[in-house]
Amino acid sequence: MKKLRIGLFGFGVVGTGLYDVIHKTKGIHAKIVKICVKHRDKARPIPMDFFTFDKNDILNDDSLDVVVELIDNADEAFDIVSAAMKKGKAVVSANKRMIAENFHELYELQKKHNAPFLYEASACGSIPIIRNLEEYYDNDLLTSLEGICNGTTNYILTKTSEEKISYADALKGAQQSGFAESDPTLDVKAFDAKFKLTILLTHTFGIFVKHNEIFNFGIQNLSVEDSTFAKEKGVRIKLIAHTFSANGKILAYVMPKFIHKGDMFYDVRNEFNAVQLEASFSDKQFFYGKGAGSHPTASAVLSDLAALMYDYHYEYKKYNQRLESNNKANGTTFTNDQLLNVYLRYSDEKLLKDLQFAEIDQQYFSHNFKYVIGKVSVAKLLEHKLNDRDDVFVVRY
Ligand SMILES: NC(=O)c1ccc[n+]([C@@H]2O[C@H](COP(=O)([O-])OP(=O)(O)OC[C@H]3O[C@@H](n4cnc5c(N)ncnc54)[C@H](OP(=O)(O)O)[C@@H]3O)[C@@H](O)[C@H]2O)c1
Repeated sequence: MKKLRIGLFGFGVVGTGLYDVIHKTKGIHAKIVKICVKHRDKARPIPMDFFTFDKNDILNDDSLDVVVELIDNADEAFDIVSAAMKKGKAVVSANKRMIAENFHELYELQKKHNAPFLYEASACGSIPIIRNLEEYYDNDLLTSLEGICNGTTNYILTKTSEEKISYADALKGAQQSGFAESDPTLDVKAFDAKFKLTILLTHTFGIFVKHNEIFNFGIQNLSVEDSTFAKEKGVRIKLIAHTFSANGKILAYVMPKFIHKGDMFYDVRNEFNAVQLEASFSDKQFFYGKGAGSHPTASAVLSDLAALMYDYHYEYKKYNQRLESNNKANGTTFTNDQLLNVYLRYSDEKLLKDLQFAEIDQQYFSHNFKYVIGKVSVAKLLEHKLNDRDDVFVVRY
């Protein structure tokens, strides 16, 4: 078993959590030797001897075999992570945005430099989903993954619908608790959940999809009318990331969904996350746990470090199998060409026309509230940039 000497980047919510959990875990043979942070004037809870402000103090130190990257800037994180891999260091990261934006390149870097790169904390915090998708579901034919992957939006949806707290106060509460991103737009507009879905999609179905090909729609436009509509129907609104395979194609999107009582997602409240998998032989399975926060996220990083002690790395078996089979026959591809049943609240009749609903089952007009329920293609939702508008709310029905 290896002893790990760690160079840590970032000492914020997750970094300090990791320091804490490493010191409270007896079985882990890992030592944080050096920590690189950004701001010189910040007070630190541990002696200043640990800290550096120069990334090269870690990257050029051959005595450090593992880099743990826990900073809040995706571009700088990619520079650090790729430089570390080029030097053959093992890397652990929690940075879903950085991974989703550079996923295929990071895959190639791992291969080229024989550098393990683990990122369990990047999707659904403490829920051990990536390693399960990689190892446990290797031979089972997965057909669908659905998840509540963003703690902040689930917290806001819980507080606004069940506790009558305003949207702004609920968001403030999430930030004060340390699980909202520095820029909450990424959370509420469902980019964070989409970055996680981009990563999970690869480990579920063995394909790399660019995150901007995946439709995301957040909760930023949720109105009192939408909440009242849900309440009258006896359903709860949850932000759900979904990927599934159908007729040889793979689909993925993140958007709010009406969840009925009895559905496993119905009682997933506050900052909790959950993932439901469907597979040919094991049927439905449900994972539930804390998706964010200092110690829960650090526990996933700790698990990656424990795996590195045994030289574990992701093999991307499904991706490699797919490459092999694609050479022989037409393989499965990603598509947005699929009809979804949705509730769409809108104000602009032109938008309704442009979206070209394939079917409209219900339509409602009043002075300040108009909605339709019907079938629309994911490609149309993506094309018309719904997430950039402030006059619509769309929910999977
Ligand atoms: N918070 C969560 O619950 C959670 C959950 C899952 C994943 N994550 C991911 O984990 C990562 C860290 O999140 P966080 O919440 O811990 O962030 P955070 O509290 O804002 O802390 C960020 C840390 O990064 C440091 N930093 C920023 N730029 C740097 C640079 N160029 N070089 C070195 N250090 C730099 C900051 O230094 P200073 O201390 O000097 O400011 C700070 O210590 C992010 O990728 C986030 O998406 C977070």
